[in-house]
Amino acid sequence: NLVPCIIAGGSGTRLWPVSRYTMPKPFIRLHDDETLLQKTLRRAAAVTDSGKLLTVVNRELLFRFLDDYRALQLQEDCELVLEPFGRNTAAAVLLCALRVRELCGGQAQLLVLPADHLIQDEPAFAEAVRRAQELAGQGYLVTFGLQPEYPETGFGYIRTGDALGEAGYQVAEFLEKPELELAQEFVASGSHLWNSGMFCMSVDTLLTEAERYVPSLLQSVEACWQQGQHASGQDYEQVELDAETFAMVEDVSIDIALMERSDRVAVVPCRLGWSDIGSWQAVSSLAPADEQGNRIQGEVILHDTRNCYIDSPSRLTAAVGVEGLMVVDTPDALLIAHEDRSQEVKVIAERLKEKG
Ligand code: GDD
Ligand code: MG
Repeated sequence: NLVPCIIAGGSGTRLWPVSRYTMPKPFIRLHDDETLLQKTLRRAAAVTDSGKLLTVVNRELLFRFLDDYRALQLQEDCELVLEPFGRNTAAAVLLCALRVRELCGGQAQLLVLPADHLIQDEPAFAEAVRRAQELAGQGYLVTFGLQPEYPETGFGYIRTGDALGEAGYQVAEFLEKPELELAQEFVASGSHLWNSGMFCMSVDTLLTEAERYVPSLLQSVEACWQQGQHASGQDYEQVELDAETFAMVEDVSIDIALMERSDRVAVVPCRLGWSDIGSWQAVSSLAPADEQGNRIQGEVILHDTRNCYIDSPSRLTAAVGVEGLMVVDTPDALLIAHEDRSQEVKVIAERLKEKG
């Protein structure tokens, strides 16, 4: 059995002002009117064979989650784990394992899917999942590796080792978020892949590896799980975590807690038309450009303007004689940035957080 486990947290600071604490990246609506979360739910429903979809999300986002979920009218049972606050991905993934073990047993496989990624090639994704399941069945923690396009320092890098039949490779080394120089070496080497942030493994393998490498983290997650409050809604089941015990759980990513350490990590190389929509540049590249290279959303009038991205859903915006700008308007905040500097938008979100 395969249970897709969607993890939704994190605030996507590079997509300010649309992405905020109360409007994290999974809820961003793309130009086709679907949110990244909805796309992830659909993608998950297409590959599950357990009839279940599990999501771990902050409890404050429950109603927003349900709006998105219900609009899709999926057949699968909706299982939720509600966190009082974020404790990073190692905790979220271990919670998935504990829930799936209750629902389907220790042999069941988890397909961990970040809720804020875009995948354009669905058939390739389904094929990659099939391969990953094969390796997960052999006791591997399976990652999905992508051809690196540039030396991104915000990703994990995977050096491939020996082949594991047709399905994939052993991982010789996993390095999360390297320094720029190292990232440049990795991209040039030709033997490294980007880690996509999706994972596939059996419940038993995950818990065994966690017991081995991060036993105290596993213990604290289990202790918290014991205190969880089960409840059911009209069309979903939820487990709400206890804040006091969850606060004891270490804040660490699954990449650092397990993928860098375990010697049971495998990779399925794939080409998925993948993007983690990390910046406005990534968002803008999804919108069609006009003859002058402008990409516009909403009510926008342009005169002698080239290569601009302008997103103005709720009021009229006009531009005259400008080039290479990104303009993102929301009811209470306006972003104007140079197209080459979209990574630095996170500085604004950080500064606002400092101001409180
Ligand atoms: N439920 C829950 N709780 N979800 C969380 C939490 C949490 O506390 N923290 C993060 N998430 C979710 C995010 O919403 C996202 O969908 C996913 O987990 C990954 O977290 P990020 O914070 O976005 O990780 P990252 O982008 O720095 O790095 C990961 O993804 C890269 C690819 O986009 C790593 O796996 C990298 O190795 C990978 O290259
Ligand atoms: Mg991310």
